[in-house]
Amino acid sequence: MTLRVEPSGGACGARVTGLDLSQPLDADTVQAVRQAWLEHHFLAFPDQRINDDQLERFTLYFGQYGDDPFFAPIAGRKHIAAIRREADEQSPLFAENWHTDWSFQARPPSGTCLNAVDIPPMGGDTLYANQHMAWDALDPARQALLARLVAVHSARLAYAPDGSYGNKDKGRSMDIRPSTAALATQTHPLVPAHPETGRRGFYSTLGYIVGIEGMADSEAIPLLLELQKWQGDERFVYRHRWEPGMLVMWDNRSVLHKATGGYEGHRRELHRTTIAAWDGS
Ligand code: SIN
Repeated sequence: MTLRVEPSGGACGARVTGLDLSQPLDADTVQAVRQAWLEHHFLAFPDQRINDDQLERFTLYFGQYGDDPFFAPIAGRKHIAAIRREADEQSPLFAENWHTDWSFQARPPSGTCLNAVDIPPMGGDTLYANQHMAWDALDPARQALLARLVAVHSARLAYAPDGSYGNKDKGRSMDIRPSTAALATQTHPLVPAHPETGRRGFYSTLGYIVGIEGMADSEAIPLLLELQKWQGDERFVYRHRWEPGMLVMWDNRSVLHKATGGYEGHRRELHRTTIAAWDGS
């Protein structure tokens, strides 16, 4: 089989065919996938239908597992979480706001893999916003102002006991575990250079970003709101349509992502792993 990488033609993303992920990959193939991931930021592997063992093996080609707080893993696995919504579920959609996975950690995951388990016949697309593009499209004077800012990240708005997935969140089929650990804060540059490609881009957005270091909230929150709108502008966004049997992976250092609805009355389940921060090797 020959590896084929077809760019989406949109703001990011490519479709990768010519691989059978139910079988081990050799080092050259893993390297080629890694290069495609760094170039396109989001990769979709259609028609794979891999199981959880094969999802774990695929994840470990790209680094160690990330540390996944606030979710219980699925039964019998330490590193796989289920992104799940039952057909009759009424709770607000999970992950409907732009975010970067676990950006509030000191060493957040470089990537995330999602494997289709149950895909609804319509809706449930995932959106990806290319943050290098969002940065490059700013005028140089604006870039100069933003380049030096340091963002304060926290999981508190989502996973603290009074957060949106906290104690008041009832009837959700996902096994979310809110905790006071979500109150911790962590800083990262607002516009870091990507550790592997050196390309600059916004990292995360308002939500997991809760402030700007050294800036009053009265100034920081309006700025973050304005940036959030810019970061998710449609010209930077690729809409991913799921197919049964599909695996995807994305680069958390390059894109924001968010879930969408539109599949009421249908079940949706994806199995998720994260890839730990790159260690330079
Ligand atoms: C996520 O943010 O991990 C979930 C995305 C989705 O459900 O489409």
